[in-house]
Amino acid sequence: MEFSQTRVLVTGASSGIGRATAVRLAKEREITLILSGRDEARLRETWTLCGERAEDVLWPRELDNAWAAGEALQEFLQARQLSVQAFVHCAGMAPLLPLRLADAETAHRIMEVNFFSAAALLETLISRHVNRKELTRVVLISSVQSQIGAKGQGFYCASKAALEGFLRAMAEELGPRVRVNAIRPGAVPSRMADELTARADLLTKDVAEGYTLGLGMPEDIASMVAFLLSEEARWITGQCFTVDGGRMAH
Ligand SMILES: NC(=O)c1ccc[n+]([C@@H]2O[C@H](COP(=O)([O-])OP(=O)(O)OC[C@H]3O[C@@H](n4cnc5c(N)ncnc54)[C@H](OP(=O)(O)O)[C@@H]3O)[C@@H](O)[C@H]2O)c1
Repeated sequence: MEFSQTRVLVTGASSGIGRATAVRLAKEREITLILSGRDEARLRETWTLCGERAEDVLWPRELDNAWAAGEALQEFLQARQLSVQAFVHCAGMAPLLPLRLADAETAHRIMEVNFFSAAALLETLISRHVNRKELTRVVLISSVQSQIGAKGQGFYCASKAALEGFLRAMAEELGPRVRVNAIRPGAVPSRMADELTARADLLTKDVAEGYTLGLGMPEDIASMVAFLLSEEARWITGQCFTVDGGRMAH
């Protein structure tokens, strides 16, 4: 694939799809990375898996206060004199939260991490004062659960539906300079997926059932991220691509 010189901020890079994305992107010599996640030890593991490249940097950060995170990103970039050309938002949380047990704090936290942090970090990255006009590509990681319900996942499903509405508006608002797309993964193994399948009694059906191609791997999502960031995707914006082994086809 063809890439221009790009520094990519990847949230959720300490695990699962975000980690696989970082490892995939690190194969491209034109790409350098800002790896973000909460757990610094896990972020370092990702950096090692990426080949311990000196040009890649870590940004350990909690995202449950989205606008505080946006300000922290500004300070981080300015202190290191870094600019960012692409943003991949993989950070997410999906605690089981049936409505009858829902509390405001957890419900807000899901929205902050899954949706508002994408908006707040993007706001920083389009700031001329912080990032000049360097940002050109955004990929947001949604979920097939923006389209299909699951017991105990009301707030998660809503957060992903919000992300998808947001992406279409941003494609209009930030185009033509910035291309904004999203990916809707089906189930792939990760810490999040493990936590959910361990409580399969609360899911609508057995997770693997219904995947024509079987369950995928985080690398299957990472390939699509790489494509959307590449020059080959230069005429694609405002779209959400389902990558789910056939789950949504029936
Ligand atoms: N796996 C699936 O089947 C699947 C399907 C559809 C969509 N997705 C989406 O894919 C994305 C990645 O999920 P995953 O499956 O790779 O799960 P994962 O392995 O649990 O990774 C989640 C990532 O989000 C970060 N994160 C969680 N809460 C955070 C917070 N409060 N502040 C900052 N970072 C936080 C984690 O950081 P720490 O490691 O530091 O905790 C981790 O890097 C999510 O948006 C998820 O909704 C996953």
